[in-house]
Amino acid sequence: MSRVLIIESSARQQDSVSRQLTRDFVSQWHAVNPADQITLRDLAVSPVPHLDGNLLGGWMKPEAQRSAEELQALARSNELTDEVLAADVLVLAAPMYNFTIPSTLKAWLDHVLRAGITFKYTPTGPQGLLTGKRAYVLTARGGIHAGASSDHQEPYLRQVLAFIGIHDVTFIHAEGLNMGGDFHEKGLNQAKAQLAAVA
Ligand SMILES: Cc1cc2nc3c(=O)[nH]c(=O)nc-3n(C[C@H](O)[C@H](O)[C@H](O)COP(=O)(O)O)c2cc1C
Repeated sequence: MSRVLIIESSARQQDSVSRQLTRDFVSQWHAVNPADQITLRDLAVSPVPHLDGNLLGGWMKPEAQRSAEELQALARSNELTDEVLAADVLVLAAPMYNFTIPSTLKAWLDHVLRAGITFKYTPTGPQGLLTGKRAYVLTARGGIHAGASSDHQEPYLRQVLAFIGIHDVTFIHAEGLNMGGDFHEKGLNQAKAQLAAVA
């Protein structure tokens, strides 16, 4: 039995293409791995707080010196890292907003990249602590960016996931969705075909 953690970040619900990709992923995954436990965190419905003074102050202090506010901020943040630590498979569903990921997903990553929990510094450089996990990233984009310098999603997410130790990462992009003509259908079908191959 594996644990799958899905992070949704589209601000849209009904019309969201990245959410459609997630639904396909879940149904295909479930068909092949019916015993797996799937957990969903929706950052549009329940946004995580930005890093603030209480959290950063609390991180740096020994437990006994933390204020009540710092302990509360840390407990909320720990929920997010605990979920990732418990997962075998991480699925990030992300629209492209202004060439990169939604700020809600960035806020989540700011909690999850935590020194001493998901990575540590060593004399030879940083070391990711989330070994043995893999990730799927499902993106939806109005234009076409894969492999171009305008893509600040894939290189960035590859870097942060590798930083915490997740190197086995598969990207599936639904692209050209807002370009008119039959681009939407083509982009969606291509992504769905890739998803089917993954399952
Ligand atoms: C605020 C905003 C910014 C966007 N920025 C980009 C962009 O930089 N490049 C792009 O190709 N599409 C961009 N789009 C289009 C979305 O990526 C596209 O509509 C995608 O389908 C959104 O994902 P969703 O369907 O899961 O909500 C943007 C859309 C919004 C709402």
